[in-house]
Amino acid sequence: MTHSTKSWAVVPAAGVGKRMNADRPKQYLKLSGKTVLEHTLLRLLNAEIFAAIAVAISEEDPYWPELEVSTHEKIITAAGGKERADSVLSALKSIRTLASDNDWVLVHDAARPCITATDIHHLINSLVNDEVGGILALSSHDTLKNVQGNRIVGTLDRSHIWRALTPQMFRYGLLKNAMEAAEGNPAITDEASALELQGLQPKIVEGRPDNIKITRPEDLALAQFYMEHQND
Ligand code: CTP
Ligand code: MG
Repeated sequence: MTHSTKSWAVVPAAGVGKRMNADRPKQYLKLSGKTVLEHTLLRLLNAEIFAAIAVAISEEDPYWPELEVSTHEKIITAAGGKERADSVLSALKSIRTLASDNDWVLVHDAARPCITATDIHHLINSLVNDEVGGILALSSHDTLKNVQGNRIVGTLDRSHIWRALTPQMFRYGLLKNAMEAAEGNPAITDEASALELQGLQPKIVEGRPDNIKITRPEDLALAQFYMEHQND
């Protein structure tokens, strides 16, 4: 990274956590006395590489102002949108007067509180000279089936299949343009897919399996377990 190139983080945190089926959005459930969102943001802040972190928060969210981290000098709050992609675009727009097109942006799900400095640095070091950017991902250990109804119609070649994680790291200008061009397209479930629509091929960087996304109730205990056993 040259001296003039900054790095920014974007954290979509405006989901309702439907699959978690809790009394509040999953980013506000607690793990060892802190909310999932606080864990995520503190880990990004502790990496000490971001000029600022733009967090997309739902307009109906009463929990965010209660968190001490919401007033941290490096945190910028943006309005959440209907889908994850809308929240990410809103956060990208919130730093438009601060970020340069050539700066790097790392988009990271609020719901992945076990992100480590190791993974963040591994991603950055793998992509710093890359034209396009890329994402943390995991290969699949299970055999993968193509299914129609409840019948298997084929087995996928696993060597070509990866599970997309976050952070996903792209140049600010390229990412914002790609997200704007893809606005309203339901197929855009991560940043890489917006870049793919532009004909680009983001790089795959193998991540750690402890970087789970809290999605269903049982994931909270798993995240707790990983946090207690991480020491880097
Ligand atoms: N997200 C967001 N804005 C939305 C939807 C999701 O910022 N309109 C965020 C979530 O807060 C989460 C991340 O995107 O940090 C990944 O999304 P997901 O795991 O699907 O979270 P939810 O949409 O909240 O969960 P669910 O799909 O079960 O409702
Ligand atoms: Mg969702």
